Amino acid sequence: MHERERAGGSVLLTWGGGHCCALAGADPAAQGAVVFFAVALSAATSGDTAVVEHTFIVSQVRMRHLCNDTLVTVVNGQFPGPALEATEGDTVVVHLVNQSPYGITIHWHGVKQRLTCWADGAGMITQCPIQPNTTFTYRFDVSGQEGTLWWHSHVSALRATLHGIIVIRPRSGTYPFPKPDVEVPVIIGEWWQRDLIKVDKNFSIGGSFDDNPAAATINGKLGDLYNCSGVAEDNFVLDVEPGKTYLLRLVNAALFSEYYFKVAGHKLTVVGADASYLRPFTTEVVAVAAGETIDVLMVADAPPCRYYMAALANQPPVPDPQIPVFISRGVVQYNNIPSDAQNCTEKSPLMPEMPDQHDTITTFYFHGNLTGLQQPGGGHPLLPQVRGRVDERLFLTLGKGSMCTHNKTSCKRGGSNESFEVAYINNVSFHLPETTAVLEARYYGSGVAVEQLPSMPPRAFNFTDTALIPVVPGGKMEELEPTRKATTTRRFAHNATVEVVFQSTATMQSDSNPMHLHGHDFFVLAQGHGNYDAGRDVRSYNLVDPPMKNTVQVPRLGWAAIRFVADNPGAWFLHCHFEFHIAMGMATVFEVDSGPTLETTLPPPPSDLPKCTR
Ligand code: C2O
Repeated sequence: MHERERAGGSVLLTWGGGHCCALAGADPAAQGAVVFFAVALSAATSGDTAVVEHTFIVSQVRMRHLCNDTLVTVVNGQFPGPALEATEGDTVVVHLVNQSPYGITIHWHGVKQRLTCWADGAGMITQCPIQPNTTFTYRFDVSGQEGTLWWHSHVSALRATLHGIIVIRPRSGTYPFPKPDVEVPVIIGEWWQRDLIKVDKNFSIGGSFDDNPAAATINGKLGDLYNCSGVAEDNFVLDVEPGKTYLLRLVNAALFSEYYFKVAGHKLTVVGADASYLRPFTTEVVAVAAGETIDVLMVADAPPCRYYMAALANQPPVPDPQIPVFISRGVVQYNNIPSDAQNCTEKSPLMPEMPDQHDTITTFYFHGNLTGLQQPGGGHPLLPQVRGRVDERLFLTLGKGSMCTHNKTSCKRGGSNESFEVAYINNVSFHLPETTAVLEARYYGSGVAVEQLPSMPPRAFNFTDTALIPVVPGGKMEELEPTRKATTTRRFAHNATVEVVFQSTATMQSDSNPMHLHGHDFFVLAQGHGNYDAGRDVRSYNLVDPPMKNTVQVPRLGWAAIRFVADNPGAWFLHCHFEFHIAMGMATVFEVDSGPTLETTLPPPPSDLPKCTR
């Protein structure tokens, strides 16, 4: 099964000379180019914080793949968009210029946004969208976190092409692992050839299993498993030098799927996730949930040759409705391959043996293997509080119910167009406000009717009973719970310790649910298969060295328990990172009160915060 090695400081990793250069093959001017980072010792050790300033121009461009020209919405003409590189403690300033026809917000996924909830970019939660032909400037600090995060639009499914990586380097210049020679973003995404606004609309009224991406991508490249009239699509190519260490910063920016990632002939040492360090362990396969980031070290220690890296989407087996297989691959290419390495030069690159696309156990163990890296002098500063008294406990079921059309309260629910399917948390499907953002409403004390999110589902049932899996959309609607729509929030006192147990149910297919909380990192204490049973499962909580995350992969037909300290005032979206789940209503808002001091109080909104137009 899954081996877990604890890599001390001494494993295969080598120290570089402290210099490097941008690798050949990357032309930053080219559309969709991948940016390589040089790891420069000198720049990273500067003690002064800096302002990292960017202008993001959102526009529509045509890109050609799979024999089709597709109109896509992107930042600065690039897919993926530009990288934000900062050092811990820096201030980030992004001027967003919206030249697209859509209202846009950008969310800085995983950035803690301490006292800057207004800059969180969650459409209709923290701000109204930036209207076409207008601008808005996001300002926030990146402090108290190091590693990989990412940014994406947070208005509907446009994030499929509106996203990019965020890299936060340590101010000291030292990592808690041997310093990599080169850092490489590896953004796993999808190529869509559909009107993404329409895709979201379709999902909000029940969804259609025809709305699928056309391909998977690595750094915007579809890879040579896809072609246009027999001409293979480009691969992402990583040129490597024997003996050097590469820090691969994996981001899953896909709307739909969790991905497995492997590189043929190479082991990967997991060192971080969601911009927190992990106790290193070595593995051949990495699972990256939608929304999640995983940092791995790869040493170029294989015989100089060419090797495929591959990203394969997983999905639950039948009876779940099936989507096509999505797999993209890139190439790890050694420089100076000896000319007598005939075996190598003539053959196509070695392909890694991927897990089965229906294998959902490998991700369970992968995520179960994650433990937080102990800081010098003990655990994380928040751990004692998390270990101590829990102030609020929520048990949240993630599933699907049905609603009658035209706001009726009773209707025919099976195989009729009198009703449609919605996703829920505790049997309430989230309604995104239309006229005022939740945070503004709260700040000004008016404007949005909100309801308290229930702490428990209204009715217990065998949540993970596979007989509940809807075989075709709408096929078992008569068995779906009558559900309603509301803008639910849950309010926490400043500094409350909150425990949330997420329970996946079989009603929403037997999907996993990558749940993401804005504005706070949380400790993932445990996960399990089947129905959560407090009496039994609390004993499996890791209160010693749990990993710190912003996205937790709640296993299919299983549960996950998290705890966090509600210490950042604001209104923070909590939702599943599968786009169809969020579009169908699997979301809520955690509101956190300001504390007693100025340093714990949410400041007023920036004066140029976009107004809602309708
Ligand atoms: Cu990356 Cu609200 O999400």
